Amino acid sequence: MALLEDLTWRYATKKMNGERIPADKLNYILEAARLAPSSSGLQPYKILVISDPALLAKIREVSFNQSQVTDCSHLLVFVAWDGYSEERITRVFNYTMDQRGLPHQTMADYKQNLWSMYEPLGQEWHAQHAAKQSYIAFAMAIAAAAEQRVDATPIEGFNADQLDTLLQLKGSGYHSAVLLPLGYRQESEDWLVNMKKVRTPMEEFAQELTLADLTNAEEQAAQ
Ligand SMILES: Cc1cc2nc3c(=O)[nH]c(=O)nc-3n(C[C@H](O)[C@H](O)[C@H](O)COP(=O)(O)O)c2cc1C
Repeated sequence: MALLEDLTWRYATKKMNGERIPADKLNYILEAARLAPSSSGLQPYKILVISDPALLAKIREVSFNQSQVTDCSHLLVFVAWDGYSEERITRVFNYTMDQRGLPHQTMADYKQNLWSMYEPLGQEWHAQHAAKQSYIAFAMAIAAAAEQRVDATPIEGFNADQLDTLLQLKGSGYHSAVLLPLGYRQESEDWLVNMKKVRTPMEEFAQELTLADLTNAEEQAAQ
């Protein structure tokens, strides 16, 4: 119940007021993102936390001048791995085994199968897959912010190539995926704040499907 209220409260804030959010709320939001699930537990992403006004001003220049980038309290930049490698995967698995007090060999077959599957898919696929994983953490951060009554604006409207150059990500093994400014709404200047939240009606959004439905559809198509 509470989660649905939080998700109804939140909206993609168009105008923020520059107020800072307390450290405990920021940490709570980051922790929710850190706890997100990821494919094979690889967490092929991390978050850059930026509150330096000088750097935010530069980021705004490559983010279609969106005001939330400079009027926020903190900007979360979700950056994802450029590619998977056997070495990167091994490092994560070894860390997991160490944390669980297990020998590194414990999931060696699983890890090998994973790499055999990923390797031929190529770097472009890897980068996209890693970015998709980062969006799960991104969604968790959005929900956690709403729970803390912190406003947040999901932002894909930026020039990724220019942002990667600005943040010196090129050659680092990471690329920018998505942005999340956190802060507080400036109600008087926000055109969206009182607009109805619009979503696809539930009957279109969630549809029950059975094998019989598929068989019937196949039979009808064959007639
Ligand atoms: C991945 C993603 C990228 C988005 N990019 C932007 C953006 O660049 N600027 C912006 O103002 N809103 C952006 N939005 C906000 C959406 O337009 C907004 O979430 C959607 O219209 C639903 O409205 P609501 O979030 O207020 O409920 C983005 C949302 C998502 C999920």
